[in-house]
Amino acid sequence: MLTPEMLESIKKVEATRAARMGVEPRRMTADEKDALLREFHPDYRDAGFAEIKIGPNKGEKVPLELGNLLHSNSRLLGKDIDLDKIDYDVDVLVIGAGGAGSSAAIEAHEAGANVMIVTKLRIGDANTMMAEGGIQAADKPNDSPVQHYIDAFGGGHFAARPELLRRLVMEAPDAINWLGDLGVMFDKQADGTMVTTHGGGTSRKRMHACKDYTGAEIMRTLRDEVINRGIPVVEFTSAVELIKDENGRVAGAVLQNMETEDYLIARAKTVVIATGGAGRLHYQGFPTSNHYGATADGLVMGYRAGAPLLYQDTIQYHPTGAAFPSQIFGALVTEKVRSIGAMLVNVEGEAFMHPLETRDVSAASIIRECTARGKGVPTPGGGTGVWLDTPMIEMIHGEGTIEKRIPAMMRMYMNYGIDMRTTPILIYPTLHYQNGGLEIGGDGFTKAIDNLLVAGEAVGGIHGRNRLMGNSLLDIIVFGRNAGKAAAARAKEIELGKLTLAHIEEYAKTLADAGLNTGDVSPLLLPRYARHER
Ligand code: FUM
Repeated sequence: MLTPEMLESIKKVEATRAARMGVEPRRMTADEKDALLREFHPDYRDAGFAEIKIGPNKGEKVPLELGNLLHSNSRLLGKDIDLDKIDYDVDVLVIGAGGAGSSAAIEAHEAGANVMIVTKLRIGDANTMMAEGGIQAADKPNDSPVQHYIDAFGGGHFAARPELLRRLVMEAPDAINWLGDLGVMFDKQADGTMVTTHGGGTSRKRMHACKDYTGAEIMRTLRDEVINRGIPVVEFTSAVELIKDENGRVAGAVLQNMETEDYLIARAKTVVIATGGAGRLHYQGFPTSNHYGATADGLVMGYRAGAPLLYQDTIQYHPTGAAFPSQIFGALVTEKVRSIGAMLVNVEGEAFMHPLETRDVSAASIIRECTARGKGVPTPGGGTGVWLDTPMIEMIHGEGTIEKRIPAMMRMYMNYGIDMRTTPILIYPTLHYQNGGLEIGGDGFTKAIDNLLVAGEAVGGIHGRNRLMGNSLLDIIVFGRNAGKAAAARAKEIELGKLTLAHIEEYAKTLADAGLNTGDVSPLLLPRYARHER
């Protein structure tokens, strides 16, 4: 039920709508953006961060919650793990069964490798499945990978690793073709050309979509391909630590059955970490659009094994998480809602910003509106939000557009009696994406540890310090595929030595020497509020 205050504010939104139609709010200048970010973006709140005390990134900034996990001991410390009892022996072990992990496994299989996926939940329980708005690729005549590069490089504050971003944009058109060939049903015009739209920070319409179920459609297709190929997927089994061999190269992982809690040994010539994001760590108390298993496990396992992180201090808060009703608090309201015409409007019915600024700028602007400017709409849960004026979409593009282009959004709100075709929806930033992660080279291998690759959201540096919409569904395909190919090729050259978990003891000693004792163990595996039934 909308509150009386909300209903009062909606009258103002309706009253200003006609005057706002067709008038594009001005874009902020670079200086205005910088000042806004410094004052209002959560990445700049010192209280949300700690200093990393040990390991390759010692002395750098990290979100408190991730820092706590990096400063914790292994779940296996002091446990008697028999590394001679091999349960799985493979060429390529892929940890994580979202879009990146599945793409890696498909390509490794294609290259003839004996590949296995392990996942703590089920295949497809991943942020990929929850991605809505689209996937970028410069494949129209008015566009080019160079243009795509410039947009993404600027949007990421010129911090993206050039060799990674170059691969992302250059290989994007092929990624779309690959997905199309596998069976992804992209939105097309009657003549077969792709329907493409803008996202925040894009200079060309290059967002390809499957309505607002893009991630679900991509994941459905990849999952079918994994299953059809007969690639083994060990579900409800978590990787809890990497194993090395006596030569210091990664050589597999210790797994744990999530139900029986039994440990299993997977020996592998190469390992691909594709464990996704960290939303369920709820940095700074934010709600999240992420799936239940997004707890940064790969970052923790990789770091403990000695692989450096990059940009672990930069987090993406999606500007438009659902602020009301409380049942969907923090759920993603796709950027596509703004791409197709909805404006961001405050309690007075004023459009306070251009709706397609980049995500960090948009989130900071909404936070400013609700805090310093006091122009947010209060919610019954004690928060605030601003309106996304969704009825504008039908006024611009005609009746039926919302149902046709963003049916997932319409359905989500209809479940709570809110018809977004006629009523604006209330939003506030939600924790959406980790811009940082493990550092890799252009070949997908981590910088410091042999035979260890990373793909997808667990990688840092592809997007710099802010990611544009639609470049994540893209990176899981581009870097997932490349990791699978590279892992399969490397596996052909490898003779593994004796397996060891010595790095766990060494990490424990380093923690003790630094006087660190969180009393916790990591990786977290499930959110802190998970119910553990026996
Ligand atoms: O807004 C969205 O649909 C999210 C897309 C993304 O994070 O790339």
